[in-house]
Amino acid sequence: MSAADRIQFLRTELDRHNRLYYEEATPEISDAEYDKLFRELEELEKSAEGDLFDLASSPTQRVGGAPLEAFEQREHLRPMLSIDDVFSDGELASFYQRVLKNLPEAPLFTIEPKIDGVACSLVYRDGKLDYALTRGDGSRGDDITENVKTIARVPLQLPADFSPPLFEIRGEVFMRSTDFAALNEQRTEAGLPEFVNPRNATAGTLKLLDSREVAKRPLDFLAHGLGANEGAELSSELDFRAALVKCGILPNEPHWEARTLDEILAAVRELDEKRHHLDYGTDGAVVKVNDFSQRETLGSTSRAPRWAAAFKYPPEQQETGLRDITIQIGRTGVLTPVAELDPVFVSGTTVSRATLHNQEEIERKDIRIGDTVLVEKAGEIIPQVVSVVTAKRPETAKPYSLPDALNHRCPSCGGPIEQEKGFVAWRCVSFSCPAQAVTRITHFSARKALDLDGLGESVATKLVETELVRTPLDLFTLSEEALADLMLDPARSATGEAISKERRYGEKRARTLLASLEKARTEMPLNRWLFAMGISHIGESSAREAARLHQKLSDLEKSPILEKITAAANLEEQQKEVSPRNSANPPKDDREKADRTKKYAELKTEVAQIRRELEEYAVSPDLGPVAAASLRTFFQSEAGQDVLAKLAELQIDPQSDNYAPVPVPPTAAAADSAIAGKTFVITGTLSESRGHFKDLIEVNGGKVTGSISKKTDYLLAGDKAGSKLTKAESLGVEILDEAAFSSLLA
Ligand code: IVH
Repeated sequence: MSAADRIQFLRTELDRHNRLYYEEATPEISDAEYDKLFRELEELEKSAEGDLFDLASSPTQRVGGAPLEAFEQREHLRPMLSIDDVFSDGELASFYQRVLKNLPEAPLFTIEPKIDGVACSLVYRDGKLDYALTRGDGSRGDDITENVKTIARVPLQLPADFSPPLFEIRGEVFMRSTDFAALNEQRTEAGLPEFVNPRNATAGTLKLLDSREVAKRPLDFLAHGLGANEGAELSSELDFRAALVKCGILPNEPHWEARTLDEILAAVRELDEKRHHLDYGTDGAVVKVNDFSQRETLGSTSRAPRWAAAFKYPPEQQETGLRDITIQIGRTGVLTPVAELDPVFVSGTTVSRATLHNQEEIERKDIRIGDTVLVEKAGEIIPQVVSVVTAKRPETAKPYSLPDALNHRCPSCGGPIEQEKGFVAWRCVSFSCPAQAVTRITHFSARKALDLDGLGESVATKLVETELVRTPLDLFTLSEEALADLMLDPARSATGEAISKERRYGEKRARTLLASLEKARTEMPLNRWLFAMGISHIGESSAREAARLHQKLSDLEKSPILEKITAAANLEEQQKEVSPRNSANPPKDDREKADRTKKYAELKTEVAQIRRELEEYAVSPDLGPVAAASLRTFFQSEAGQDVLAKLAELQIDPQSDNYAPVPVPPTAAAADSAIAGKTFVITGTLSESRGHFKDLIEVNGGKVTGSISKKTDYLLAGDKAGSKLTKAESLGVEILDEAAFSSLLA
């Protein structure tokens, strides 16, 4: 076999294996065998002389080299415009009339599907693909040549008998629905998030900087327009279509030719019938004037040509019964209501579930169980409940309330649920909710929590998957053998490809983790534990303040301090409510006014009494009524009681290391310390927690506030100090690093 024949053979073979691998996912040879053929071809091409062998179209030219740093930008040869949308027969008729008015005679129109993809321009010079650009802002786009080269359908070289000096093909990069479904299936198996629709998947893929990753995604290309052209004699859309066939590019089918408005409308109707069977997403028909010189007469606005319109089909809607509303629990405990529907066929698939997003959305649309609802697919992909057919509402249907339906309990663990102020979502806030196990364990183990060695998210995921652990406290029952035998997933690149083999956790790491668990059990102070438990509204500072006020964890359950903080706030709330001056609810008559005035006075006395009792503790605003109530709710809930019981069983009762419920007045020594009476702000990362430095400053008679002002005496600044540092500089506040702070204290 001659070198030329061998090259030809290898190219055909490699093209075939590419197709099998990337498009059909049924490879016939191993990666190593493929690489061998590939390298042989590369060698032969290198030694072949001149351009004899049509190098540009070789498979060796498709897959690029190292990832790019960023995309370069480039000017479009002529602007890439968009198309004006029309939404009804009437608007389409106006478009038709406008075109006719501006032309001496009725033109021929073409009609074709609007492809739901990402617009792309391919520029060929002397038949060779020179570069490819995204639309960008219409006048400049990203140079995505390396990524586009991986698309088998895009020729790298035009045929010898059709290679004009300059030829720009515009079209859409897209994913076929079947390829998209397969891609999402693969991603689910690999534990990666699914793409929401083919368009997003395409756009995301084209943004990848590593074309080797792009090659693994099933992109395709369809042409829909001629851009710049020097040398090819083409005078119409139909000419252009014929040229595409010569170039080996698929023209966009089906298409129609039409002259009258009725013919156009008929084509648009026919496409509506056919479009659900197309293998790509389309929500419209593009109607274009065929003849290029007529297009020129009509011209363009700065946004869109006057010779084209996109007829947008209304999304298909179907009526169906809403049987039930179920609840999905997300990784962070968010409870999402889901409509369970009588199965119904919409835009090509059977739909039986649709997200209802949240309680607010249900109320806005007044969706009730038993209703008949209208369903459509947003972007032709994701099912949505559009509205309720109220005429068909059964008399028994009652308004839906998510918390009531759940009896205020998480359906997964029975723990308390709550709606945070300012958020629409309801969440399960339970420490031991199995639905949130991975998130909870990862937080439990974090550096600022219990600082467990070798327990990040991927290990947590495996522990939960293998059912070794369901809640964070289960970690304390792990054996060295079970941990060591844990198999971890292969490491993955940013886009989800495996870059290593499955790995065993191993004895060494198991022992390290067990040692840090033992340390957490016996040494970690109360504030770290409280933070680690991920109780809502309990951050590092509130945990520290709670630990100052309680000696050990088991003291929190029946804490009189927490009770007082909560009670005072509740009574004040009532006080506002009954106040005779409450403008939202003014008293109806004098009698009510007198009653309320009396009640108001009683409440006021009660609040004052509690506030006096609280005074000696000098509770800082870090532990406000919301945080205090959250701690109480948690420890008194069934879920919280279970946690306490489990802790007792494990003989864990974390102790406070900053217990000082009644703050000691500054000592005599402190009164003459250098920082007595001085005001500090703390910022940046220090060697110890901010709470530690706050305590130090306070014990020495200083004060700590949250924000810088002219009254601030010192800024204690650690690493990565940000805006506070800048502000201190601009106000001339003295800045101390840790060393300067220590010598000041000494
Ligand atoms: S013709 C203005 N035909 O939709 C240039 N465009 O929303 C006329 N599109 O910019 C383009 N399918 O990127 C044409 N069959 C089709 C199309 C199509 C999708 C894109 C194109 C255009 C955008 C406007």
